[in-house]
Amino acid sequence: MNYHVLTLFPEMIEQGLHTSVTGRALASGLIRLCAVNIRDYSKNKHKHVDDYPYGGGAGMVMQPEPIFDAYQDVVKSMERPPRVVYVTPQGKVFRQSMAEELAKEENLVFLCGHYEGVDERVLEELVTDYISIGDYVLTGGELPAMVMIDAISRLIPGVLNNKESAEFETFHDNLLEYPQYTRPVEYHGKKVPDVLLSGHHGNVEQWRREQSLKRTLERRPELLENAVLSPQDDAFLEKLKLEKSDDFHCHDIHKKYD
Ligand code: ADE
Repeated sequence: MNYHVLTLFPEMIEQGLHTSVTGRALASGLIRLCAVNIRDYSKNKHKHVDDYPYGGGAGMVMQPEPIFDAYQDVVKSMERPPRVVYVTPQGKVFRQSMAEELAKEENLVFLCGHYEGVDERVLEELVTDYISIGDYVLTGGELPAMVMIDAISRLIPGVLNNKESAEFETFHDNLLEYPQYTRPVEYHGKKVPDVLLSGHHGNVEQWRREQSLKRTLERRPELLENAVLSPQDDAFLEKLKLEKSDDFHCHDIHKKYD
């Protein structure tokens, strides 16, 4: 996978991604990164890349030419036009399924905007995907681009050294991950659940599955709509819901007679 990031802050991208797992993947050549400074393509003697918005209003708008020229430079060695992601709060919200789809590409170009925005014409010309990382507004597109690159990279074979960890964790089957424990066996008076110390593989698996279901029901119930559930999973969830409604019921009765 080759990432090309068009940005005004290439050092932010380079530093952020040359760290931890993505840093290791870059060092081993499993992924490649080229952070391109849009300012290098300014034809202006002051190296300006932005100007006032036509029609008035606050803030500055990034001009189309330096972005277009940076893009042309990046794609000249590619066999076919790449997907170009413009990171913007106006885009589709990024999801695991999008990371999976983007991980199949050979090249990905990310365009990071700043100031009040980017001239619409260059977006119309280049962008294939408008993607947001969530319903909040950041100061620029660099952090969202790094978030997406991180999420995509860990899906590339070899990037995670433990193959299982890519498969069996949050969002596998659209369920949240079960709780994890390590030593010590007792910490601040809390013991690790007995089943995890039992050495009984089948019971551990069942407990983990149930914890995933319980956690998803409590924290992200909307995920269950698209979860891959067995009849046993359904039965367990029904039991949890019944317990919960019983709890409410008892609570109400107590309130009445207290
Ligand atoms: N740029 C600013 N805020 C953003 C967001 N939430 N997602 C993607 N790009 C952004």
